Amino acid sequence: MNFKTTLFSVAFLSLSITIVNAQEVALEKTSLVGNRIVEFIPKGFDQSKTPSLILASEPKSKGKAPANWSLIPEFSLKNNKATAVLNLKGNISLYGGGEVTGPLLRNGQSIKLWNTDTGAYSVEGGKRLYQTHPWVMGVREDGSAFGIIFDSSWKAELITNSDQIIYNAEGALFRVYIIDRASPQEVIKGLSELTGTIKLPARWTLGYHQCRFSYDSEKRVMEIANTFREKKIPCDVIWMDIDYMQGYRVFTFDSIRFSNPKRLNDNLHQKGFRAVYMIDPGVKVDKDYKVYQSGSKDNVWVMQNNGKEYHGKVWPGDCAFPDFTSPKTRTWWSGLYKDFLNTGIDGVWNDMNEPAVNDNDFPENKRLGTMPYETPHKGGGNLPQGPHLLYHNAYGRLMVEASYNGILETNPEKRPFLLTRSNLLGGQRYAATWTGDNYAGWDHLKLSVPMSLTLGLSGQPFNGPDIGGFLGNTDGDLWANWLGFGAFMPFARGHACAGTNDKEPWAFGAEIEKTSRITLERRYRLLPYLYTLFYESSKTGLPVMAPVFFADSKDARLRTEEQAFLLGENLLVVPAFAKNPILPTGIWEELNLIEGEKQDKYQAKLSIKGGTIIPAGKVIQNAGENSFDPLSLFVCLNEKNTAKGELYLDAGDGFGFEKGDYALVTFTAERKNEKVSIKVAKIEGKRNINTEIQKINVSLLLDGKTYISSGTLKDGITISLK
Ligand code: NOJ
Repeated sequence: MNFKTTLFSVAFLSLSITIVNAQEVALEKTSLVGNRIVEFIPKGFDQSKTPSLILASEPKSKGKAPANWSLIPEFSLKNNKATAVLNLKGNISLYGGGEVTGPLLRNGQSIKLWNTDTGAYSVEGGKRLYQTHPWVMGVREDGSAFGIIFDSSWKAELITNSDQIIYNAEGALFRVYIIDRASPQEVIKGLSELTGTIKLPARWTLGYHQCRFSYDSEKRVMEIANTFREKKIPCDVIWMDIDYMQGYRVFTFDSIRFSNPKRLNDNLHQKGFRAVYMIDPGVKVDKDYKVYQSGSKDNVWVMQNNGKEYHGKVWPGDCAFPDFTSPKTRTWWSGLYKDFLNTGIDGVWNDMNEPAVNDNDFPENKRLGTMPYETPHKGGGNLPQGPHLLYHNAYGRLMVEASYNGILETNPEKRPFLLTRSNLLGGQRYAATWTGDNYAGWDHLKLSVPMSLTLGLSGQPFNGPDIGGFLGNTDGDLWANWLGFGAFMPFARGHACAGTNDKEPWAFGAEIEKTSRITLERRYRLLPYLYTLFYESSKTGLPVMAPVFFADSKDARLRTEEQAFLLGENLLVVPAFAKNPILPTGIWEELNLIEGEKQDKYQAKLSIKGGTIIPAGKVIQNAGENSFDPLSLFVCLNEKNTAKGELYLDAGDGFGFEKGDYALVTFTAERKNEKVSIKVAKIEGKRNINTEIQKINVSLLLDGKTYISSGTLKDGITISLK
């Protein structure tokens, strides 16, 4: 080493010492803000540097934190970048972090929170995905649990070591919320008390969705729709990916291939389909294009520090980007939906909203895949002005707020359906999500279960993967295996990338077509149960698709199970691929819904928990058809010879349910000697369901046998075991 480099190293060393020393930050205030929820505010926290984009509303203090509260975060600052650490005692199983690859159990994992377009989850080895969920839940050995929210959208890293949860933000100090309750379910409810729940979706959104990048003409869309109906494969929704647009200009239609969107949407509706169309945030820079003109006039674009519009390349070439931090911009964006949706569009798909920018022609060390960190955002209302480093992770979340409002304003009588690729913890209030661009391989098929479970444990119950795999070609075996369990995920959509093979249920030959039909018929029979779960989730925030350990949070064996999953807490789904799944103990009886499913190697095995009644409908081709002719109840008794279950029903869309036009029916069953009686124990809500449900068929599942009987709501049903 020569003199010069030594000097340099010494200088560098002293410099790095000043940088490395983190400065501890004391707590300014702790207060109770909910049932066993404590807010921690570090000294120097400034809401104008770290606004909350996560919480549904500003928490109100309900007094002091309990004196014996043991979970206390430690804050520090290093170079003006804030860190919070929660030290853990004992053997804790960690979950959460939102959209993540890797295992369900998050001990020993780390992720980067910087929303990124990551085809095949390839960026940073899958540690950086499309969404930001600064949230971790810990489950103790005794089954009690806690959760921690780091209320920040600054670029960050989340490390979940077994003895420490660490949140390193690349920005100012932030608040922390800790929930400490008796069970993981109670903690998830606490998360939704702070960040909100999904809104009750329209019933059709729970059907099967068929997508492709892209069904690129009106003719092709109708071919797909007609084939579903001809082949009697249930389906509710056909999706329009970017190719419906005129040169990828958002809010336009290709003048040749989609020349009459109203006609297309009417035709789809007539056949019992709904139509969902994509809208990206990037607006083509084109002086002759109405959306660009009106955005420029209203001054809505993200501007650079030098005063010029920020432009980035997306599908249409150079694009300007709405600055969604500004309320004025959000209102402008909401307004764009009116004419667009009035062509009969039923739902919207917001994509590329990390926002993703194609800078592949930049030198490698200059590529960000999004706007530069220092790009300023205007803010307004509750939001301060701030750099992209602060707002990037909230860009998709603010976009979906504006989209949601625009959809609702256009059709105030309908429940908005919006799907987004990027989002932030709490964004479930506005949009459902899917897990981005997976690929057609067995590892991503298996990964789709823990990914969806983790989103569900992070406040986002309405999610699912691209069934069949988006990138790459899919073969029949992979498709049928994926659909076999994917059909039981909350959001069930098949999707395929441009240039890949056809991936519709009939695209793989007769055998796979038959299997796919059976699978989807199973989902459609379960729609009444699924809809009930979504209703409950919209009230409580509980996941629709839950990890197996939710069946018994004290059973340590179940903590790592990530092949099998629960729908609600009473229906167990074991995918056909599952090898030696770890299953909950107690009474579970196999549930068969469709003839031929038992002999079909691709079907997931379904089982009902003892003590449960699961409502089901008949096979229908879309969710708009009457499912309750008759209503089926599947009953499985517990050790005490009783069972209970709920059915929620309403008009399936609209907001009448908020004024009482719904029925939440509680069924109970009880065995006395050789008789089991099933009756309606309670009906909440004002909806008269006697005409809707005329007949009830009951299947009692007991010791591997099925006993059948039927009756009515009024008289109940009796089954003789003799
Ligand atoms: C990226 C999305 O992740 C994918 O689902 C979509 O098909 C393409 N963009 C094209 O719009």
